[in-house]
Amino acid sequence: MSRQKIAAGNWKMNKTFEDGLSLARAISNSELPGSVEVILAVPFIHLKAVRDMTLPARTLHISAQNCSNHGSGAYTGEVSAEMLHSISVPFVLVGHSERRQYFGEDADVLNGKLEQAIAQDIRPIYCCGEPLEIRKAGTHIAYVKEQLDATIFKLSETDFRKLVIAYEPIWAIGTGETASKEQAQEMHLAIRNLIAEAFSPEIADNVSILYGGSVKPANAKELFSQPDVDGGLVGGASLKANDFIQIIQSF
Ligand code: PGA
Repeated sequence: MSRQKIAAGNWKMNKTFEDGLSLARAISNSELPGSVEVILAVPFIHLKAVRDMTLPARTLHISAQNCSNHGSGAYTGEVSAEMLHSISVPFVLVGHSERRQYFGEDADVLNGKLEQAIAQDIRPIYCCGEPLEIRKAGTHIAYVKEQLDATIFKLSETDFRKLVIAYEPIWAIGTGETASKEQAQEMHLAIRNLIAEAFSPEIADNVSILYGGSVKPANAKELFSQPDVDGGLVGGASLKANDFIQIIQSF
């Protein structure tokens, strides 16, 4: 996959079925720039209906927010990558800090999810990022390197090429506090350099690295204009059609 400009919305656990369809409809009916891939990471209940609704829009895609690290079987409440594949879901979030923090997803679990998703031709949107105390200690790059070493750097080159990466400093998620464009660029460049070392400069150059953490219409443009920031993973501001559409138009 070559580097793409991506605006991804992460609805998290928000929107009833009808409200979600209205939001997706407003986005798909807006004038979307042809050069930006728009991804809607919606709750499971919305996936098929939103996919059917947005099918004609070439640059609008759905994503699951999660999949099981197991293939199938007695795992009550879980949804497998194979099930997602059966309704043509092209992306899945893996490693979001809320999953790591509230659901105890460690590197082993994340590696299982990566494996399941990739085996079903679903591209993982792999999330990484440091908590506030690590940022304050100035060890944020080493912290993110450890996250990458334990998970996506174990993939083969072929599989790694399927990834989208999202850098999401935990202190900026849902807090209204955004990383400055300098802080975002510093980490994105560091991640790209780590990828170049682990795989190759060509692979590093071709992977899309998104910034996430309180992206809003007022800061999207300056973040997206950084040379190593290829777009955003947007939570709160993706729940309002007008805000998200403005963000899509910020490249
Ligand atoms: P936020 O969430 O935009 O509400 O900070 C981003 C995310 O968690 O993906």
